[in-house]
Amino acid sequence: MQYGFFDDNAREYVITRPDTPYPWINYLGCEDFFGLFSNTSGGYCFYRDAKMLRLTRYRYNNVPTDTGGRYFYLRDGADSSADVWTPSWMPMKSKLDRYECRHGMGYSRISSARNGLAFSQVSFVPLHDKCEIHKITLTNESNVDKYIDIFSFVEFCLWNANDDMTNFQRNFSIGEVEIECPPEGSSAIYHKTEYRERRNHYAVWGVNVPVSGFDTDRQSFLGLYNGFDSPAAVFNGQAGDSVASGWAPIGSHHIKVKLSAGESKTYVFVLGYCENPEDQKWEAQGKINKKPARDLLEKYRTPEAADKALAELNVYWKNLLGKFTVEADDKKMARMAGVWNQYQCMVTFNMSRSASYFESGIGRGMGFRDSNQDLLGFVHLVPERARARILDIAATQFPDGSAYHQYQPLTKRGNNEIGSGFNDDPLWLICGVAAYIKETGDYGILEEKVPFDNNDELADTLFVHLLRSFYYPVTNTGPHGLPLIGRADWNDCLNLNCFSKTPGESFQTTANYESGVAESVLIAAIFAFVGPDFAEICRRTGRNDDAERAERAIATMIEAVNKHGWDGNWFLRAYDAYGNKIGSNECEDGKIYIESNGFSVMAGIGIEDGRAAKALDSVKEHLDTKYGIVLLQPAYKDYHIELGEVSSYPPGYKENAGIFCHNNPWVTIAETRLGRGNRAFETYAKICPAYREDDSSLRRMEPYVYAQMVAGKDAVRHGEAKNSWLTGTAAWTFVSISQYILGVRPVFDGLLIEPCIPSDMKGFTVTRHFRDADYHITVDNSAGKEKGIKSITVDGNAHSGNVIPAFSDGKVHKILVVMG
Ligand code: BGC
Ligand code: NOJ
Repeated sequence: MQYGFFDDNAREYVITRPDTPYPWINYLGCEDFFGLFSNTSGGYCFYRDAKMLRLTRYRYNNVPTDTGGRYFYLRDGADSSADVWTPSWMPMKSKLDRYECRHGMGYSRISSARNGLAFSQVSFVPLHDKCEIHKITLTNESNVDKYIDIFSFVEFCLWNANDDMTNFQRNFSIGEVEIECPPEGSSAIYHKTEYRERRNHYAVWGVNVPVSGFDTDRQSFLGLYNGFDSPAAVFNGQAGDSVASGWAPIGSHHIKVKLSAGESKTYVFVLGYCENPEDQKWEAQGKINKKPARDLLEKYRTPEAADKALAELNVYWKNLLGKFTVEADDKKMARMAGVWNQYQCMVTFNMSRSASYFESGIGRGMGFRDSNQDLLGFVHLVPERARARILDIAATQFPDGSAYHQYQPLTKRGNNEIGSGFNDDPLWLICGVAAYIKETGDYGILEEKVPFDNNDELADTLFVHLLRSFYYPVTNTGPHGLPLIGRADWNDCLNLNCFSKTPGESFQTTANYESGVAESVLIAAIFAFVGPDFAEICRRTGRNDDAERAERAIATMIEAVNKHGWDGNWFLRAYDAYGNKIGSNECEDGKIYIESNGFSVMAGIGIEDGRAAKALDSVKEHLDTKYGIVLLQPAYKDYHIELGEVSSYPPGYKENAGIFCHNNPWVTIAETRLGRGNRAFETYAKICPAYREDDSSLRRMEPYVYAQMVAGKDAVRHGEAKNSWLTGTAAWTFVSISQYILGVRPVFDGLLIEPCIPSDMKGFTVTRHFRDADYHITVDNSAGKEKGIKSITVDGNAHSGNVIPAFSDGKVHKILVVMG
């Protein structure tokens, strides 16, 4: 069943009942301040780093789920019979006469009503400011006067989210606040824990009106044994004016308002992060310098100012998403490719894998391979930021071409705890840089001096980084001439040198065995896919010798795959530390894997001799399901010490035969290489959330974003998704639909047009901003083809070939493509 619908004109998903099968969230923020915001106003916010600079507390895995957010409690009535309710449904689960949550591009709106009192809230992070704005409006829809008490509520996190959840012996004594609630003007609660010592930042929770009271101590507001659903202060009808000292600081404003029949009142709440220079920390002894907070509250003092900021945010998104738009009869595909998929790509750009409802924000840094792949999905939207990201990532590479697997966003330094040794990592840098150059034509990036291991003394050009990346798998090969896998390749759970017997030991960072034997066919295939781009980059920058040498290395690698990476009906996956095959018909479980098949065909291996088609047919036969392609079959029934984490999962989940959506688009792309548009689209649509909107009770995750995993056919709840939002699926599905199905693909020389679509798709239109020009591309498939172009005209003139040059003239160009 459905829990809402897409409002395509508004670019919003409209949730029509609050009890969604899982909290359905949105992300607020596009620069450095971010909020996670659920359809019942749950979530939290942080500045730059979800672990170190978290403003508000959030309890993962809580009961009930998703409690904790920015809440408003309403008390309708002047006496003890007053009706107390929460307009975002949670945390009181109030019965609502109306409810709607609209998640839009960088903002969310919740509107509800009960007993003639209407409430609406719009929440967003304005451009260029470090705060969330929550503008709320109350309307008396009844025909009698209403006396309302509004209580706001946020619970502060003591900044370091990990420490906040663990170090209670200290934390219960350090909480400090200041309160400024003058009779006139705005009211503000300041959370200044640890400001007295080594922090020079604090949080402010303000509202643009004077208040009748406040609370800053959680126990005073809620009552020690109460939950968020029964706050004592609200039921008493009066805030306690509590001043937190230790324990759990919160921020709650109490506003009393009389609303005549038909009357509305609007309030602007601001939850902000403020920082002072070291020498300007204090206003007076023990009093924080509040100037930055006052300036912020002043800036958003009026509803008009908040509206203006929201309008600016809307323009930002309109311009951004204007860079690639799609019109087609298939509305599901058009809204995903044109709007939501790209939106999700921007979220992965901002968050990497740090903070979602599945990633706690304290665990993971920016991944080397993840960030490079994410880039494929946003480079067309924010090329300058992609450039900066590439340089940050490359700076964490080691001089031998290997890489820190992760780096920390605040310091941009490699993460020692995780270290290196994931032998696919180096290649993703080539993939990211090639995508950037194809998008922008900026070969200059190759000459940028970039440190190795964050050490300026080791700096060399980005080109040298790519060179080292390229040769890493070439110089680290095993007995079959295939790349050594190291700790793991793209599949973090193929830990072939781990041999772990110790419970809780990290599969990814433990190497109990230095086999020097375990090899990955996938790395070879990735090499064969990105290698030619590297060779081309060499050639185009006058490095012909490098280009030729690289081409020889690619040919040798492909030979190794042909010789030792083919299993008869599909591509092998790997060799383990004993030299045994993984992903072979000889294996009892894990006979066939998706990754090496998708990627080998993407790289063009086996196309000429029919093995590619055979491999994809085998994928279809053995791995395909109603909800997408599972990662492997048969699922591992037992733990295999020589395989690692992949065999630790119960069958059907995650890497053990789950539908790991990230690599489904590899098969989609591979299918387009064979010209099989019907099958390519089928694999695209199966994991595309919009096609499963009416199946939301089973799928459970948001119908507007991809999830990392959907339970495979061996799982109890086959079809149930998990881990929505922060997944490489976003970038790769965008690549698959935009570049390979719709077939508008940036290449070094311009925009290549090569649609590969279902034969019953009559055509479509794509507008694409590319290197300072706009391309309006209309594809006519009245011929009912899957692939093949009869003619192309550019601005009315016949065009030979299917690469449209980079006009770079700031103009609109009309491209008409007739398939046939
Ligand atoms: C997951 C992988 C993930 C890895 C990251 C594993 O538990 O199964 O999907 O990449 O953790 O650390
Ligand atoms: C999620 C990780 O973020 C990614 O790096 C990895 O490739 C996949 N899981 C597969 O294991």
